[in-house]
Amino acid sequence: MATETNNGTPDPRLEAALGTLWRQTEALDHLRSLAQDTAAQPVAQTQAWIAVKAQAERYVHDLEPWRRAKRLDALAGDLADQERLLSDRLKEAAAALDTTPPAIRQEAEGRQGIRIAIVGKGGAGKSMISATIARLLGRRGRPVLAVDLDTSHGMGYSLGVGTTDAALPPHALEEHGGSAYGWQLTGGLPAHLAVERHAITAPDGVRFLSLGKIEDLEKQSARRSVAAVRQVLAGFAEPGWDMIGDMEAGPTTAFERYHSFADLVVVVVGPAWRSALTARRLLPIVAGIPTLVVANRFRDEPDHEGLEPILRVPYDVDTARAEHRGLAPIDECPGSPAMVAVEQLVGLLVDHANAARSSSPTNPSPTNQEVAS
Ligand SMILES: Nc1ncnc2c1ncn2[C@@H]1O[C@H](COP(=O)(O)OP(=O)(O)OP(=O)(O)O)[C@@H](O)[C@H]1O
Ligand SMILES: [Mg+2]
Repeated sequence: MATETNNGTPDPRLEAALGTLWRQTEALDHLRSLAQDTAAQPVAQTQAWIAVKAQAERYVHDLEPWRRAKRLDALAGDLADQERLLSDRLKEAAAALDTTPPAIRQEAEGRQGIRIAIVGKGGAGKSMISATIARLLGRRGRPVLAVDLDTSHGMGYSLGVGTTDAALPPHALEEHGGSAYGWQLTGGLPAHLAVERHAITAPDGVRFLSLGKIEDLEKQSARRSVAAVRQVLAGFAEPGWDMIGDMEAGPTTAFERYHSFADLVVVVVGPAWRSALTARRLLPIVAGIPTLVVANRFRDEPDHEGLEPILRVPYDVDTARAEHRGLAPIDECPGSPAMVAVEQLVGLLVDHANAARSSSPTNPSPTNQEVAS
């Protein structure tokens, strides 16, 4: 068997890799069934075909390094099969979209969600900004999944749920020797059902998932929910949903590609020199995905060289005060300068996503510099 080691025992890492391929297939089958649902409105069907295409493209991108990975040589046949499947799904979605009336396609494209990972140095303001973005998107009537990927989490307070704990329950996790930290999402629990069943509901209808409280977990596996939450992020592509991920500080988890679910990475940089150092270190690591820089907590300091932001969120005493009390600034000081700036940022992010979608060789999506000018 392809997933056995030389001495015939199962190789858990290969089994985990096969599990990933299986999850990809399952996620695409789910989206495809939405697209082929004859009871659904044409716009909803078209949204689902757009989701099939976008998700298959993400999976092609994710599998790229797998083909070159020596440790996966035994899975060459499985990977080739998966590439064929992804290519078939892409062709099928393209054919369906080609025959869709332009007005319906345009409406469906306008309803597509945005997928954003927020990275930066510790204390840059990732949690405050990511939670506020999620709330403001929710307030616009958009379905939003907010995910705290930081083991020392804080997004829940900035979101206004009054807790940081929105973990997957133990029965949604299963032990697997080949998975990161030895645990994974329970087989048979698709990402969209994991969110439907286990994400808690924050104000403005935002659904929220976190890694959970470390003290609740076994000491040896404090990160046991990481792989499962990442599997949820990788498999979740419900049509029209926005996804906002609050990443752990610094470059370590970026190296591990925790941001790979996203279509856009926002690098938050504070006024301190060290914050700029971390941002500069992060930029090449996340470079495979379009990137924007946002400045936060600046007063009258100049921009850092090479890190000109698309937007500055000013230092805001009311926001700091709300956060000091563990309350969501969007509830406590909605008209404060920082909240007004994040509202502008949400507009820029939605515009950016729309521009990226309609981009073509003659109409490229704007870069950080172009958006700023
Ligand atoms: N624009 C702002 N004005 C004033 N205070 C802010 C602003 N943005 C964030 N803060 C405060 O700065 C601190 C750090 O913010 P936050 O927790 O969002 O950063 P973080 O990048 O998520 O940090 P960590 O990496 O530790 O999770 C918090 O106390 C927060 O209230
Ligand atoms: Mg944080």
